[in-house]
Amino acid sequence: MNNPKLKRTLFAAFESAGKLIRRSITRKKTISKKGEIDLVTEIDCAAEKLILKTIQKAFPGHAFLCEESSASGRSKHRWIIDPIDGTTNFAHSLPVCSVSIAYEENGIVRMGGVYDPVREELFYAEKGRGAYLNGKKIRVSKTKKLNDALLATGFPYDRRKDPDKYLKIFREFLMQAQEIRRLGSAALDLCYVACGRFDGYWEAKLNPWDKAAGMLILKEAGGKLSDYHGKKLTLEEPTIVASNSILHRQILCILWQTA
Ligand code: IPD
Ligand code: CA
Ligand code: CA
Repeated sequence: MNNPKLKRTLFAAFESAGKLIRRSITRKKTISKKGEIDLVTEIDCAAEKLILKTIQKAFPGHAFLCEESSASGRSKHRWIIDPIDGTTNFAHSLPVCSVSIAYEENGIVRMGGVYDPVREELFYAEKGRGAYLNGKKIRVSKTKKLNDALLATGFPYDRRKDPDKYLKIFREFLMQAQEIRRLGSAALDLCYVACGRFDGYWEAKLNPWDKAAGMLILKEAGGKLSDYHGKKLTLEEPTIVASNSILHRQILCILWQTA
C-alpha cells in the first residue's frame, strides 16, 4: 500500500472520534437498546458520524460498512468501522473501549487501526508491513503451554438463549489456562494478543466491524487466526480463534472437545 493519504485520514478519524469518546466517558449518556442487552449511546452515533465525515471528505467515492448506520455505496475501496467497540463498558463509564477502522481494497483488508482513546494507545498495521503500537513494532508472545497462558474471550448478546454452550467452553479453559479475561472489546482483545499481553482469544459471534482491523494487526504481529474448526477466517465467519500461533492447536483442541 503506497498511499500516505489513507494513513493520514485514518489517524485523523481516530483523533476526532477519540477526543469525543474520551471526554464523554465519565459523563451521563443517552442509552438505547438494539436488543435485550445490546446497547447503543448517542456517542456511538456521533463518533461514527465524525469518522465518516473525515473519510468522506478525503475519499468521496469510497464505500462503508459501519456498525451504527447502514452500509453505503459500492466501490472497490471500503472502510469497515466500529465507532465504539466496548459500548457496554462505555455506557457504564468503565474506561475500556476502542475505535476500530479497517480499509479494504478489492475485498482485501490493506490497513487497520484500533485506537484506545483512554490509554491513548494506537495499534496499526498495513498488509505486509508489520504491526505497531504507538509507532513501535509489536510481536505476539512466545508462551508455549496453555497452563502458562493468559487468554481472553467474550460472550455474544444472545447468550441467554443457550448459556450452557458458552459456559461449557469457558469452564474447560478455566481448568486448562493460567487465567482468563473478558475485556468487553473484541478489537482490543485481538490487539492485546498481537502485542503479547494475551496469548490467545476465542469468541463465538463477532461482526466484521469488531474484527476487521484487529485481524490484520494480529496477522502482521505474527499471530494466527482461524474459525472454531481451524479453517481460514473470513470477515463473515462469526467464530474466531486468535493466538500467538504456538498455542493455536491447543486452543482448537479444547473447542473441539467441548463442542
Ligand atoms: C462487542 C464487544 C464485545 C464482544 C461482543 C461485541 P460492541 O462490540 O466487542 O467484546 O464480546 O461480541 O459485539 O457492541 O461493544 O461494539
Ligand atoms: Ca463491536
Ligand atoms: Ca460498537
